[in-house]
Parts: sequence; C-alpha cells; structure tokens
Amino acid sequence: MAKTISIAIDGPAGAGKSTIARRLAAELGYHYVDTGAIYRTVAYFFDLWGVSPKDIDGIRRYIDELNVAIEYDGEGVQHMLMNGMDVTDDIRTQEISQKASLISAHAIVREMLLDMQREVAQKHNVIMDGRDIGTVVLPKATVKIFLTASAEVRARRRTDELLAKGKKADYNTVLKEIQQRDYQDTHREVAPLKMCRDSVKLDTSDMDIDQVVAAMKDIIARKVSL
Ligand code: DC
Repeated sequence: MAKTISIAIDGPAGAGKSTIARRLAAELGYHYVDTGAIYRTVAYFFDLWGVSPKDIDGIRRYIDELNVAIEYDGEGVQHMLMNGMDVTDDIRTQEISQKASLISAHAIVREMLLDMQREVAQKHNVIMDGRDIGTVVLPKATVKIFLTASAEVRARRRTDELLAKGKKADYNTVLKEIQQRDYQDTHREVAPLKMCRDSVKLDTSDMDIDQVVAAMKDIIARKVSL
C-alpha cells in the first residue's frame, strides 16, 4: 500500500483548527478528521445514559455498549455515528464541549479511540486535528503544526461565531469556558495537550483566516509537494 500523507494539527479550543483544517483539506483533496468530534460523541453517549464524565466506574460499566464510527458523505463531510445513529449536529453544544474535555481525560476512553483514528490515516491522506495528534495518535505525521492564539482572541472569535449563528453568547462566559478547557486539556495525565519538539508553532492571534491558510500551506510545502 502506498504511504499516505498525514498533517497533524494540535492546539487549544477555539484556535481555529477545524475551520482552517477543513479548508486546507478541501484544497489539497485530503480527508479532514476532526478528532474532537469523536470525544464529543463519547461525551454525548454518556450524557444520554446519565453518567457523569468524571464517573470512571459508570464509564467502565457502559463503555462496551458504545460503538463510535466516522463516516464521510459524498461531499467529504465527516459524520459521527453513535451506535449507528448520526449525532453530528447534536454534539455541538457548550455543555458537550465541557463534558468532552472531562471525559477525554480517562485512559480507557482514549485507548478505545486510538485505532479508529490511526486507521483513517493509514487509508487516506489526512489533515487531522485535535490535542494529541502529533504526540500520540500520529507521532510519525508528515507535518505537525501547533495552532494557537491568546485565550482572549479565541473567546472573541468563538463568541462572534455563535452570535453569527443566531445563538446566545456572552464573551466573558465563553472566555471562562475556554480557560477551563485549556486547563483541563493541558493538565490531564494521559495525552495532555502539548507541543511536540518536531511541530511548527503558529500563533494566529493577529492573523485572519486567509493569512493562516497561506502560512499553513507554506509550512506544509516544506515537506510535501502541493
Ligand atoms: O476540538 P474540540 O473542541 O471539538 O474537542 C472537544 C474536547 O475533546 C477537548 O476539549 C478535549 C477533547 N479532545 C482530546 O482530548 N483529544 C483530541 N485529539 C481531541 C479532542
């Protein structure tokens, strides 16, 4: 089998990873893998079962009842299936964001999801985004990028995004949630968010989307012919 190309993008919540990765994937013809959506699906499942994301005994008890799968539709859009049910839209709430951050701290959850992430990257050229892609999931990724921005900028962008969708959003609340998730995602014992030695850091605080996409393409072009 021909070797596939993998671009690992890690970074904190709201750094713009998914927007940028989706655009790059479309331009390069790669599969976009949003690994946050996988953890969100797990959080959603346990939420339905009434199990707290901190309740490791409850998680152990029911985890075998859960089947998570990724599917791509004809337009290349990633769909999340929870026991065969499409939950792609249901997992996009602030509540599930927080619960996904907490549930993703458990080793049993992370181990269960490792192979499915690696399998997509073995089959396809991918742009995969998350927190531990360069460090754990694809340590041999062709290109590793750490995308970040100040918490204030990320909160402002997230607030504007929610407002543009007609949802309620308060900047200070969003900022607090982002800071809390940053803390949880970087301080957990298993696969915490951190930059690896061989990744390129891109701080997008003062950049717009077009500038970030152009900078990412430059970074990728150093390793892959575009
Ligand atoms: O990228 P996101 O905001 O949709 O991710 C939701 C949560 O899932 C995030 O706060 C931490 C967790 N996550 C993770 O632990 N590892 C990943 N590779 C992706 C997400």
